[in-house]
Amino acid sequence: MASSSSRFSLVNSNAYAFLILLTSTKNATGCYTSLFGFGDSLTDTGNLVNIYPADDPPHMAFPPYGATFFHFPTGRCSDGRLIIDFIAEYYGLPLVPPYVEGKNAKRPNFHKGVNFAVVGAPALDLAFYEERGIYNTITNDSLKVQLRWFKEILPSLCHSSSSCSEFLQSSLFLLGPFGGNDYGHSFYSNASMDEIQSFVPLVAKAIGSAINELIDLGAVTLVVPGMIPLGWLAGYLTYFETSNETEYDSMGCLIWLNKFTEHHNEVVQRELNEIRELHPHATIIYADYYNAAMPLYHSPQKYGFTRGAIVACCGTGGHYNFNISLMCGERPFLDCDNPSLYVDWDGYHLTEAAYSLMSKSLLDGPYTIPHINSTCVSLVAPAEYSFYS
Ligand SMILES: *[C@@H]1O[C@H](CO)[C@@H](O)[C@H](O)[C@H]1NC(C)=O
Ligand SMILES: *[C@@H]1O[C@H](CO)[C@@H](O)[C@H](O)[C@H]1NC(C)=O
Ligand SMILES: *[C@@H]1O[C@H](CO)[C@@H](O)[C@H](O)[C@H]1NC(C)=O
Ligand SMILES: *[C@@H]1O[C@H](CO)[C@@H](O)[C@H](O)[C@H]1NC(C)=O
Ligand SMILES: *[C@@H]1O[C@H](CO)[C@@H](O)[C@H](O)[C@H]1NC(C)=O
Ligand SMILES: *[C@@H]1O[C@H](CO)[C@@H](O)[C@H](O)[C@H]1NC(C)=O
Repeated sequence: MASSSSRFSLVNSNAYAFLILLTSTKNATGCYTSLFGFGDSLTDTGNLVNIYPADDPPHMAFPPYGATFFHFPTGRCSDGRLIIDFIAEYYGLPLVPPYVEGKNAKRPNFHKGVNFAVVGAPALDLAFYEERGIYNTITNDSLKVQLRWFKEILPSLCHSSSSCSEFLQSSLFLLGPFGGNDYGHSFYSNASMDEIQSFVPLVAKAIGSAINELIDLGAVTLVVPGMIPLGWLAGYLTYFETSNETEYDSMGCLIWLNKFTEHHNEVVQRELNEIRELHPHATIIYADYYNAAMPLYHSPQKYGFTRGAIVACCGTGGHYNFNISLMCGERPFLDCDNPSLYVDWDGYHLTEAAYSLMSKSLLDGPYTIPHINSTCVSLVAPAEYSFYS
């Protein structure tokens, strides 16, 4: 069983290929009774679309978002399910309802979990960035705001300290990924690289202090994803396009931007190590989205992504089929014929097909989310997969 100090290690592409050949889905139904999500557009299942005024919806409220799985836009930034959805399915839980939609219902039902993630959400508060001339025009609902929402609804989910502790002990918390909107808006506001680098430890600390708060409230099992490689996303490849070929790797990705993402992920993992020492009873898992995504970029053809990994499926032309002034969903004619042939959905997010493969590697791999009791523990992939590490 993965212990509290476990982390995913580097997933090489051979190991990954082996994993996705595994046909058995030994779902761990019953291991967790609820799932709580925090994060940004990688995790939002419909909050931002419910925050915006009905007469001014954001672009992911329009087709072809949602076309593959839901057949209508749900507010998810993809053509279908996100990693949090695959996690919910794996544990036999309902797809996690977005908090903002549910709280407006007469009798919100959050007993099997709720998702606070909001498209555009940074880890640090907007005020921090605004003081530095960096503007986020998408949302104010940073990690701290999402935590406040959680604390506000907690009394409606459990009533005594013993029932809360039981409830939270059997809940799984997905915290992130965060960082994309801390750095993305900074890049676009022309902050210097030195300044942006100086945000990294602060972002990691903000994630860490949210984990501490959740543990103090009674959370025991927390999954903290790293960022996916920014240097492979069509939106950033377009913005930072350069004629200097030495800035690209053999797959056409921006080396410095991937290095930056790796740096963030390392700093976050160091933070997690410190928190594990403070809370030995808690299980804090680093979910390595970066390395889970890597094989898709290294060998897109092998996984059926015949249109490659770095060109967006839904977009309006240019080298990467991405144009920030005409994003996916902004015009009805924008479509994507076959999302399963692409890794990149809209320039900043991946297709359901890509998220599905990443989820398999995160859920069926050897350093996966551990389960809370011995019956569930036996469902974890066996030790012979240790070639992974
Ligand atoms: C462990 O989880 C399984 C799966 O839900 C459940 O059937 C079993 O009763 C649990 N065992 C204990 C000891 O809590
Ligand atoms: C098992 O989980 C996968 C996603 O991880 C899902 O597609 C499938 O429907 C689940 N199966 C059952 C029996 O719940
Ligand atoms: C953020 O909050 C400020 C002050 O309440 C408000 O003026 C602004 O419109 C909000 N921005 C977004 C993107 O919601
Ligand atoms: C950032 O710099 C670019 C190129 O110099 C410029 O076009 C853009 O307007 C600047 N953005 C901001 C937010 O200042
Ligand atoms: C091209 O990029 C490399 C790597 O970042 C850098 O060392 C070099 O100075 C750049 N060359 C030019 C002409 O800008
Ligand atoms: C992006 O879209 C805008 C608005 O439609 C257009 O003016 C511009 O030429 C496009 N840019 C590229 C590189 O295609």
